[in-house]
Amino acid sequence: MTQSLVIAVDGPAASGKGTIAARLAREYGLPHLDTGLLYRAVGMKVLADGHDLADEAAAVAAAQSLVPTGLSDDERLTTGEAGEAASRVAGYPGVRAALLDLQQAFARQPGGAVLDGRDIGTVITPDAPAKLFVTATPEVRASRRWKQLTARGFDIAYEAMLTDIRIRDERDAGRGAAPMVQAEDAVLLDTTDLSIEAAFDAARRIVEAARAKHGL
Ligand code: DC
Repeated sequence: MTQSLVIAVDGPAASGKGTIAARLAREYGLPHLDTGLLYRAVGMKVLADGHDLADEAAAVAAAQSLVPTGLSDDERLTTGEAGEAASRVAGYPGVRAALLDLQQAFARQPGGAVLDGRDIGTVITPDAPAKLFVTATPEVRASRRWKQLTARGFDIAYEAMLTDIRIRDERDAGRGAAPMVQAEDAVLLDTTDLSIEAAFDAARRIVEAARAKHGL
């Protein structure tokens, strides 16, 4: 079977992985799935239905009934509250199992696809020919997220942002179910000192090397 250009982009919150994934998708004319939105939608559904995030059965039910359309247009999913709720429900194996098929189906599209998240290169598409693990220091990530949110009118302190990022890193990397970890064959891209332009350029070079290696 000929391989298609599946690009797996993993990394912690506010590392730049979403922007890089979206730009790679545009560059190669591929569909893009921000898988964090799936977990954000599940977390927000649990809260909207009046359940506690500690209620695993409610979270699994929300994941099983998720309609994954229009998520990128839903402003509520971009908030810190949604990110926190996502990180909580993402620890439940039943939630991850319920979201597995749709992510794998997305990756199997003819021609390929770009997916970004935490476990794309390790669990969702372990055979992806191109894998990136995008990271940056917690301080730089907190400052990026703080700038994004304050620019949109949210009133939030930088220190609170940094604490939130650290808690989220710990939870995402420390959970038993599909923890955030760099796949053995993923290329590390540290964006701490890089502009968006420079980070995208580096990402494109990584994908070009993978294409050459796999004849894609
Ligand atoms: O990438 P993001 O900030 O939108 O992700 C929100 C949370 O969802 C993140 O803290 C962990 C979880 N997540 C996950 O566990 N697996 C993914 N593939 C994507 C996100």
